[in-house]
Amino acid sequence: MSQSEWRWLVCGLAVIGVTGCHRAEPPHFSADVAVKQLKPELQTAIQDELVKRTGTFLAPKMLAPKDEPHHNLSRGQAVYQQRCVQCHGVSGDGNGDSAKFMYPRPRDYRKGIFKFTSVPYGFRPMREDLLRTVRQGVRGTSMPGFPLLPDQDQRDVVEYVISLSRRGELEGQLIDLAGSDDEVDPEVVESDLVPAVLNRWLQSESSEVFPVTPQPRFTQEHVERGQKAFLSKGCSKCHGDDGRGQTLDNFGKTDAWGFHTRAADLTSGMLHGGNRPLDIYRRIYNGINGTPMPSFANALKEEPDTIWDLVAYALSVSNRRRRGEIPPPGAINPYVPTTSTAKPAEE
Ligand code: HEC
Ligand code: HEC
Repeated sequence: MSQSEWRWLVCGLAVIGVTGCHRAEPPHFSADVAVKQLKPELQTAIQDELVKRTGTFLAPKMLAPKDEPHHNLSRGQAVYQQRCVQCHGVSGDGNGDSAKFMYPRPRDYRKGIFKFTSVPYGFRPMREDLLRTVRQGVRGTSMPGFPLLPDQDQRDVVEYVISLSRRGELEGQLIDLAGSDDEVDPEVVESDLVPAVLNRWLQSESSEVFPVTPQPRFTQEHVERGQKAFLSKGCSKCHGDDGRGQTLDNFGKTDAWGFHTRAADLTSGMLHGGNRPLDIYRRIYNGINGTPMPSFANALKEEPDTIWDLVAYALSVSNRRRRGEIPPPGAINPYVPTTSTAKPAEE
């Protein structure tokens, strides 16, 4: 090195020495509030088990059965940190910086509950379900679609979401275990808790629900029969006679994540779970996890074609505004009581 090069090097080091070399603190997974209420030694035990099985933010690990294919979690995490964290939060708790004022709130993945799936009520989602959500978004909510993201990035970020979900579910189970046994026995974690989390995910991959009867070509008759069923099978109790969801029955309902919720306004033209007939069929047949929308698989077992009638009707209501039929203003049963005599329905 020449003398002048040396001089530059020394100057450079001196500048770093004076100004310091700052690196931002890396993010970290934060513990569930319920953990913070436990005894310190239980908190440590839970933390140790979580790190052992799911890693840390800087070195995340998928809680997975041995034969599950390889996951590129670091790529998934990079995509997540760039595009999802502001809403869904570092730990996937749905509490990102911009989440507070959203309705519905960004999904808290840690319960393993997802709304728009192809599997029976209460099941974990299939990978394909999560992938579809990432690609098309959830129309009518703040959840954007990412159709331009390269296919592999979409897949990797879905794996990362699954890893956060399984991590959160394990954490929930560890909290319950600590609460009931007053200790966290690693053998119980290995033999009971981990399989309990993983089996539900495995089971879903082979539980896709297909329509009981083939989809008919929709005609005006389907729509009319669907409307009758809508009014007689209990749909209008929540969604209102006009499909707007402005009924007193909706008042004060909460979802599985503890936030206010209400029946969808079907006239808005924005079906959250997709507007293919198959999507709507699954919403009605399977219900919507974590929300008051029940499964009608049993209620309509004897008349499976009625489900298609209801799909035809839901589509027709949803497309009303596009056809130029603007529904008249004013609610039949106001969602928010407008007079002092109208009391919210009892829970
Ligand atoms: C601007 C905020 C925002 C961003 C950014 C965002 N989401 Fe969401 N996300 C939401 C909201 C709000 C919901 C809840 C929609 C609902 O409940 O109907 C949601 C729901 C979801 C769901 C659950 C769907 C279901 O079936 O329950 C998944 C999975 C998801 N987002 C993944 C992602 C991924 C992956 C990214 C980044 C590539 C991302 N989100 C970016 C706001 C966001
Ligand atoms: C107990 C109340 C309740 C009943 C009864 C009910 N729903 Fe729902 N429904 C809801 C709620 C709540 C949502 C919104 C769920 C969400 O996305 O958060 C919903 C959403 C929907 C959606 C929108 C799905 C989407 O993709 O956005 C459709 C379609 C629907 N319901 C149809 C029906 C039909 C048809 C019936 C009768 C067979 C019915 N509902 C009965 C509460 C109910």
